[in-house]
This record gives sequence, structure tokens and C-alpha cells, in this order.
Amino acid sequence: MSATAQAPTSPPAEVPFSERLKAATWGDHEAAEYHGFTRALMEGTLPLDGYTAMVAQHYFAYVALENLGRALIDDPVAGRFHQPELLRVPALVRDLEHLLGPDFRDRISPSSATRTYVARIEQMADHPEGFVAHHYTRYMGDVSGGQFIRQVAARTYDLTHEGLSFYVFDELGSLPRFRSGYRARLDSLDLTPAAADRLVRETRLAYQLNTEVLADLGRHHAPDAQGG
Ligand code: HEM
Repeated sequence: MSATAQAPTSPPAEVPFSERLKAATWGDHEAAEYHGFTRALMEGTLPLDGYTAMVAQHYFAYVALENLGRALIDDPVAGRFHQPELLRVPALVRDLEHLLGPDFRDRISPSSATRTYVARIEQMADHPEGFVAHHYTRYMGDVSGGQFIRQVAARTYDLTHEGLSFYVFDELGSLPRFRSGYRARLDSLDLTPAAADRLVRETRLAYQLNTEVLADLGRHHAPDAQGG
């Protein structure tokens, strides 16, 4: 046995839950970030109809997420994440009206991957920490990498606020401050170890479901950029 192994060890300093969550799920983030569809989007080679199709799929997911958020508003865990300035459905409606016209609802439908994603979100009605996982995966992404997508989409498609208001969070104020406040909320959840594990696992699943939605979009709109 080595001298190091025999040395008295102090218990490891507690890792904040937000750090643990990020570390445990970052590999899944990379799969979503470096997916063919996302790459085409970030490289500015995705046609506008591909961008529009992504916005349409977002619409179905956020309707589900935000309906559930309202239903869980009084829940002691999920309710802490309710914040009207975050809500994206009004922005998605504006963007789709701009991109597809006022009758956009007649012109879009959820892909099979989106239907699976929506069904999973709806199942979280009885699992508040699972709702938090889906909330985290989308909104923390929108205020982080989403801001790069906003810049690229503005350039590629010559859009101003109209068409990309989904990525505009002016009412939140400073995004870095929002992100640290969000992490503090995660850290103060005081979850049982089992609930914390469920939140981590559900976040991994949320990333995978998002990657499936992107894969489906890629097959239709970026067939030359497939792969993760
Ligand atoms: C173009 C694609 C993407 C880029 C360039 C990107 C980039 C980034 C960057 C730079 C961060 C900040 C990392 C940090 O704070 O150290 C971040 C965080 C995050 N992204 Fe993405 N991302 C992309 C796609 C996605 C997707 C598709 C999702 C989920 C569906 C997602 C979810 C998240 C989440 C939840 C965080 C917060 C992690 C944390 O701080 O705990 N991202 N992303």
C-alpha cells in the first residue's frame, strides 16, 4: 500500500449540485452541440427552411414544458423555477408568424422525435425534479449556447428580432447573472440523494431526446452534415 493511501483523508469538500449536474451531463451536451444539424446551423450552411423547421419543433416542446410549469407552479421544487420572463411560447409564436405567416399552426406538425420528447415532458407531472431536468436542459441552453445561435442566425438569415425573438431574453437582464442565480437555485433544492440522481438521469435523457429531434431535422434539412 502506498504512503498516499495510508495518509488520513479528510472528507471531500461537497461539490455543489449544479457542478455535479453539469459534469455528469456534459458528454450528452457535446452530442447535441456537435450534431450534424447543429453544425450546419452554426456554420451558416443550413437553409432557412431548416431553421424554420427547428423553430416549429421548439414550439411543440415549449408548449408542453410551459403548460407543465404552470401546472406545477405551487410545487416546492418545480415552482422555484417559474419565471415569467423565461417563457418562450409567446416568442415562438411571434417568430413562426414572421417565418410562416399567421396561419403557421396549420402548416407545422411535431416530428415523431418531438412527440416522444413531448410525451416524456408530460410524464414529469408527477416528478417535479424531472420537470426541473427538462427546464434546465432547455432554458440554461437557450441563455448559453442559444446566444451563439442567435448571432449566427441573425447573420445567416438576415433576421433581426423578428424570427429570432426566441433567443432574446432582454427582460432577464444580465445573462451571466441569471445563470449564476439559476445554479444557486439548483444548489438550494435540498434534494434527497435519490431525487438528485433522478434529476441527473432525466437531464441526460432530456439531452438525448433533444439530440433525436436534431437528428430528425438533420435528415430532412442537412443531409450532407449527418453524424455527431
Ligand atoms: C450550437 C450548439 C450549442 C452550442 C455552441 C452550445 C454552447 C454552450 C456553451 C458555450 C455553454 C456554456 C458553458 C459554460 O457555462 O461553461 C453551454 C451551456 C449549456 N448548454 Fe449548450 N450549446 C449548444 C447546444 C445546446 C443544446 C442543443 C442544448 C440542449 C438541448 C444545450 C444545453 C445547454 C445547457 C443546459 C447548458 C448549461 C450547462 C451548465 O452550465 O450547467 N446546448 N452551451
